[in-house]
Amino acid sequence: CSGRVEVFIGERWGTVCSQGWDLRDAAVVCRELDCGFAFTTRPGAHYSRSIGEVWWRNVGCSGDEFTLDLCERTTNDGVCSHNEDAGVECTKLPAPTLTMQSPFSAYSAGEAVLFTCTAPYWRHPIDFYLYKSGVDTPLVTQRADFRQTRVELTLSDLETSHQGSYSCLYRLQGNPGNSPSSNIINITVEIHTPQIWYNASPTARPGWVNRGQSFNVTCSTQPQYPGGSFQLRLIRPNGTVRHSLPALTPFVTFSFPNAQASNEGYYCCLYKVQFGGRTFVSRESQPLAINVRDPVLSPVLISLLVSGLTFVTATCAILIVAKVYCKRAKKPTELERESRTVDNTYIALTIK
Ligand SMILES: *[C@@H]1O[C@H](CO)[C@@H](O)[C@H](O)[C@H]1NC(C)=O
Ligand SMILES: *[C@@H]1O[C@H](CO)[C@@H](O)[C@H](O)[C@H]1NC(C)=O
Repeated sequence: CSGRVEVFIGERWGTVCSQGWDLRDAAVVCRELDCGFAFTTRPGAHYSRSIGEVWWRNVGCSGDEFTLDLCERTTNDGVCSHNEDAGVECTKLPAPTLTMQSPFSAYSAGEAVLFTCTAPYWRHPIDFYLYKSGVDTPLVTQRADFRQTRVELTLSDLETSHQGSYSCLYRLQGNPGNSPSSNIINITVEIHTPQIWYNASPTARPGWVNRGQSFNVTCSTQPQYPGGSFQLRLIRPNGTVRHSLPALTPFVTFSFPNAQASNEGYYCCLYKVQFGGRTFVSRESQPLAINVRDPVLSPVLISLLVSGLTFVTATCAILIVAKVYCKRAKKPTELERESRTVDNTYIALTIK
């Protein structure tokens, strides 16, 4: 993008005189032609002399105009000749550079990534944009003042959906053109923390399993990273026991056919998977407490409770029947009713 500047007025092309022709004027020409930015002005018919009209002289753009016809100027009226035809040399914006402050490209959910986008120096303030590939709108936008050529672009509170390829670009304020995209940085967001739960015989209390009976602990995760393995860790006062199963499905069940005291403790799941030549390990699930107890105790306890309850209910029923019978037997007199309204007790019955 470089050459002699000509404008089309009244069906005729004509030139612009390079008297007072500067970079701000050239910037508007480059912008209007979508040629990027003014690299230099070329006065004095650098790109050879034209023929026909010299339309304008003393063009005085502020540099922010979108088209040259918005700039102040004087009609040439024969003052300049084609020896002073103005020219420009434009340049496209160089691509910025994206860097990441952390040396690692894998992150855990909830963390923040600090990118730095660096642009070459321009006299204008610059807007920086961080893009994720496949997403049309920028994820982060940051304005730099005209002395800054780099900004930090922070992607906070990472989720697994943030995993992907990132690049930045910039735009000079007041200019419609984007710079080319920067280099690409890939980030990986660590896999989900698994969920854990267990199944035991329905007669066992919540949090308990019956000795000698079976119970199952299930670990589950999101299916994004298949092909890994689940690790179940039992934490006991006298040590840790680990079990591992391949994750053929997004959830796997660890079966314990014969619950014993040695199965008591806190169970945690984690998910381990390899991709991109690296091993990723999820965070551990919430601990799940499991206690083992003798099921023999429970029927005895239940029958004790049931017989106790039956005894109390029967006694109450007898008492109520007796009371109703007593009330029916004694009809209250006028005096009794009055005294009942006063203190609402049966003590007045004794007056008779
Ligand atoms: C980023 O990931 C894409 C897609 O997975 C891959 O094609 C590209 O080579 C990666 N780029 C870098 C710099 O790692
Ligand atoms: C645990 O899993 C095994 C095998 O899948 C099954 O036979 C058993 O009934 C399960 N136990 C409970 C308490 O769900």
